[in-house]
Amino acid sequence: MINGIKPLDRSLRWGMVGGGGTSQIGYIHRSAALRDNTFTLLAGAFDIDAERGRTFGASLGVAGDRCYPDYQTLFQQEAERVDGIEAVSIATPNNTHFAICKAALEAGLHVVCEKPLCFTTAEAKELAALSEAKSKIIGVTYGYSGHQLIQQARSMIAEGLLGEIRIVNMSFSHGFHNEAVELANPSTRWRVDPKFVGPSYVLGDLATHPLFLAETMLPELKIKRLMCSRQSFVKTRAPLEDNAFVLMEYDNGAVGSLWCSAVNCGSMHGQKIRVIGSKASLEWWDEQPNQLRYEVQGEPVQILERGMGYLAPRALEEDRIGGGHPEGLFEAWSNLYRRFAVAMDASDRGDKALLENFWYPDVHAGVTGVQWVERCVESADAGATWVDFE
Ligand SMILES: NC(=O)c1ccc[n+]([C@@H]2O[C@H](COP(=O)([O-])OP(=O)(O)OC[C@H]3O[C@@H](n4cnc5c(N)ncnc54)[C@H](O)[C@@H]3O)[C@@H](O)[C@H]2O)c1
Repeated sequence: MINGIKPLDRSLRWGMVGGGGTSQIGYIHRSAALRDNTFTLLAGAFDIDAERGRTFGASLGVAGDRCYPDYQTLFQQEAERVDGIEAVSIATPNNTHFAICKAALEAGLHVVCEKPLCFTTAEAKELAALSEAKSKIIGVTYGYSGHQLIQQARSMIAEGLLGEIRIVNMSFSHGFHNEAVELANPSTRWRVDPKFVGPSYVLGDLATHPLFLAETMLPELKIKRLMCSRQSFVKTRAPLEDNAFVLMEYDNGAVGSLWCSAVNCGSMHGQKIRVIGSKASLEWWDEQPNQLRYEVQGEPVQILERGMGYLAPRALEEDRIGGGHPEGLFEAWSNLYRRFAVAMDASDRGDKALLENFWYPDVHAGVTGVQWVERCVESADAGATWVDFE
């Protein structure tokens, strides 16, 4: 159980790019990073509008002279301070991730970057190479992968409780954008504009989440090839899709499917993953995150509850409040930020042994997500044909 115990004897000096006062995701980054005192927020370029960013930074308690007008000034001026930031989180629209991430690594900072990491596999691999050359961590915020029941599923699958893995069935399909809400909502507007999101909307914005849940639960499973069909039900969104279906074949003969949608009317989130083996299945749904369904063929269904002593050590390690109380998005993100801090510290100390055996959504998870989106778009635009993943 985490119980507020600090994983490090220090707190990393931390800044943010984006995540300003009007942003959707800025607060969850801050609440996750600050929860276990693993990070101290000292600086930022919080907003595309410099003045708004300064006012917002001040309202968070960041010193006025460390609320910068843009990320270039942030990185340059913080590098000149003896107490400058060591790590930065990037919570800006997708088109900016590559340049900001690259500049941060070049400035000697560890990075936590929003998904998708960037637009092309070539860019993603460039960031991975730079992070290695600079010995700096890139963590990617696939938030729910930090939930303890995802770790529980990983343990049960590794233990062989499901038998041979045959099918992975995933979805992230909500209904919030069933109409052209982007006309009135700036946070949605950039999401359906290729200038800001590159080649895809829901594939990059939504599907990469359950895709990484699958990668977390099934680290050995590798995608061999995939086929994607994508649609723009709100016509003005074309060529970007607001709905897509993806079929996958894995290298061990298993198959997968992923449905991502922003037009699934009535659905709140619909992020689900069901892993089916030759003996049993596991199913997890982000709208009921405290329960993991374990279904053994021929037996009554078992609902495994978060925080209970019968869970695997790997899951209990991430527990914050014991069984019975709900834990969800905030706690899962806090678990990720806690892990990012440990990885950053290990990297600073050159502790390769720790890093080799330490799980967190790292730059390679970011690369896979970008490559997967790229392949899906390639497949869909060729008329839903099979394309090799590598
Ligand atoms: N991991 C998740 O679960 C999750 C959830 C939502 C959003 N996201 C990702 O987070 C990122 C931001 O999404 P959002 O919904 O918060 O967007 P948003 O439009 O609501 O907010 C973006 C913020 O970034 C600021 N900004 C834009 N360009 C900037 C720049 N060049 N420098 C500094 N600040 C800048 C804006 O002023 C705003 O404060 C996206 O990449 C999105 O895909 C991830």
